[in-house]
Amino acid sequence: MLRRVRIVDVRDAAKDVKAFHFDDALEFVPGQFIMVWLPGVGEKPFSLADRGMIVVKRVGPFTSRLFELEEGDYLWIRGPYGNGFRPRGERIALVAGGIGIPPLYALAKLWRDKFRKITLIYGARTEEELALLDVGRYVDEVIITTDDGSSGKKGFPTDVLKEMREEFDQVYACGPEAMLKAVLGVMEYRNVQISAERYMRCGIGVCGSCALGRYLVCRDGPVFDGRISGII
Ligand SMILES: Cc1cc2nc3c(=O)[nH]c(=O)nc-3n(C[C@H](O)[C@H](O)[C@H](O)COP(=O)(O)OP(=O)(O)OC[C@H]3O[C@@H](n4cnc5c(N)ncnc54)[C@H](O)[C@@H]3O)c2cc1C
Ligand code: FES
Repeated sequence: MLRRVRIVDVRDAAKDVKAFHFDDALEFVPGQFIMVWLPGVGEKPFSLADRGMIVVKRVGPFTSRLFELEEGDYLWIRGPYGNGFRPRGERIALVAGGIGIPPLYALAKLWRDKFRKITLIYGARTEEELALLDVGRYVDEVIITTDDGSSGKKGFPTDVLKEMREEFDQVYACGPEAMLKAVLGVMEYRNVQISAERYMRCGIGVCGSCALGRYLVCRDGPVFDGRISGII
């Protein structure tokens, strides 16, 4: 059901990234998403980063319009939709690439007590694109990578995962498709859950626009077990 929520806080979270807090403390499973509707503009999916919080990167018309909104303005939302991550393992790695951080932030913050050790391996192109670094409060270890070496190790998060993979019972990943493919490769499709992205319209398994092989990302995902090999 579509409902109206009021924006109570907007913050810059990184270059071209903003965190929007709204007045609806949604119950959700980390990894689930909501559909956000702006009248006259359209409707798009965003992962929940916390109860009543989404974190958005400006890429095109919808997100540019969203960036004009301020505290006191309204959004219309549906959801939460999709499945979420499944809590598995004791020593886990969160592997985030760029704007893949929001659902992993939710996992670290809301499920902190479910795990013995959480390591975040977080990559971005440059230091200024790293968002939500207060995630450090909810994890045991943060390893940053940047493509240009402006922060942390120069390289990709998957370079780090390759070196450390024996240390983890379960890996949770969200980010660009090339990174997800590399994560699946490093983990040999085992002990890994990925959050996939596809273009969405209905968000509820009706229109077929989010097909990924024989799955629908909005209904069967966005989180998929790595054992479903070859899906991306
Ligand atoms: C389950 C899910 C969760 C998401 N969570 C977040 C989030 O937490 N934060 C966030 O910033 N974004 C998230 N997104 C992506 C977000 O929905 C898009 O950034 C948004 O649709 C862009 O809209 P736009 O009109 O600004 O840009 P558009 O003009 O629609 O897109 C600009 C460019 O991005 C491409 N694109 C747009 N949407 C997608 C997509 N879904 N998959 C692949 N390419 C796409 C377009 O082809 C185009 O090249 C999520 C997407 C999905 C499917
Ligand atoms: S967005 Fe319509 S089926 Fe998934």
